[in-house]
Amino acid sequence: MKVLLIGSGGREHALAQALNRDPIVEELHVAPGNPGIAQIATLHQIDLDNNQLVVALAKELAIDLVVIGPEKPLVNGLADALRKAGIATFGPSAIAATLEGSKDFAKQVMHDAGVPTARSFTCTTKAEMESALDTFGAPYVVKHDGLAAGKGVVVTNDRQIALDHAYLSPRVVIEEFLDGPEVSLFGISDGTTVLAMQPAQDFKRALDGDLGPNTGGMGAYSPLPWAPADIVEQTLTQVLKPTIAEMKARDTPFVGLLYAGLALTSRGMRVIEFNARFGDPETQVLLPRLKTPLATLLYQAATGALKDAPPLEWSTTAAVTIVLAAEGYPINPRLGDPITGTSSVDGAYLHHAGTALKDGVLHSAGGRVLSVTAIGESLTAARLAAYEAISKITLRGAHYRHDIALAASAAPKVREN
Ligand code: AMP
Ligand code: GLY
Repeated sequence: MKVLLIGSGGREHALAQALNRDPIVEELHVAPGNPGIAQIATLHQIDLDNNQLVVALAKELAIDLVVIGPEKPLVNGLADALRKAGIATFGPSAIAATLEGSKDFAKQVMHDAGVPTARSFTCTTKAEMESALDTFGAPYVVKHDGLAAGKGVVVTNDRQIALDHAYLSPRVVIEEFLDGPEVSLFGISDGTTVLAMQPAQDFKRALDGDLGPNTGGMGAYSPLPWAPADIVEQTLTQVLKPTIAEMKARDTPFVGLLYAGLALTSRGMRVIEFNARFGDPETQVLLPRLKTPLATLLYQAATGALKDAPPLEWSTTAAVTIVLAAEGYPINPRLGDPITGTSSVDGAYLHHAGTALKDGVLHSAGGRVLSVTAIGESLTAARLAAYEAISKITLRGAHYRHDIALAASAAPKVREN
């Protein structure tokens, strides 16, 4: 099988590795990729905003399966263009990707499907915004309706800050605050059948102790020893299956990865957000433990054949991912500095994200520069190995969190129900 993967982040590096591990893959092509992915795939530099260029590339290479990593090309209709050209594609249509692209649309689908989520109002006028904030009270949660690359959500006790954020967007979703730990749980769907992956936890704030600004994600770990034993089954029955069924009933089937961002509240599970793609860095922590051959699985999803797929198989190990971020990330990342020590990382996966080669030397080229993922018999062992690996890498001013998976490995069972 010839596979074309779209994207250039740490998520795509982990996807590329997992696709390559599947013996069915004869050729792996990636557009645009990064210097890490270049070591294991053939890269193609094309304009991803131009769907027809991607279709032409897939045809020219006689690609059997396209896997789309990031949300932007999905929302831009790349999956629609590829399917129209008869190319099997893992990734939802533009309409189905609106589950990520519009918070309001996601709320409507959840409402119609009976999926538990925070109560909310969609507001377009200042009066509606003020009234919604006062209905729920502090802490206030204000979300811009469209794609915002992680910058659209503000959670604050300050009513004025909440209002100021709301005024920045013509359409906002204001919702009740959800307490409780957050979990990311992904479903792989062919539009009808959905298979749940294992849960992971992502660390969204920039600094230790969940301080500092929100980021794309600073680290992750899996499995979650503290989570309810039936969390996968619960998410499947309460969230993934009803959402996939609702999208199918609307004649806009969701083919691809449905990312459920969950809050495990004292009143039960609630969806905080949907994404229409693999999470980053959750993918880096999940795929090294997935034993099921990935290309075969994603091809089954892309061709409506998941009904006959065997259950997903996982190794019983634990995994921890730590993201190395550039100085100033996420506010104003400093780029263009040399990175050293990557060749000393052994016994751990190294996933490139914001890296570039300048005169043959690896340089930082993005806010999240790279990540390391270590596997161990326990979370404690995996996190020690991950911190050992990241300590080998030097980049001026770079920072990473020191508490990834710390609480979970120190207190392995804090939640029984
Ligand atoms: P989102 O982009 O919807 O995932 O929101 C970004 C982050 O804001 C989430 O990961 C949560 O930490 C926080 N957040 C979003 N919605 C809520 C909510 N209703 N209650 C509490 N925190 C929230
Ligand atoms: N790690 C959060 C995301 O991928 O959206």
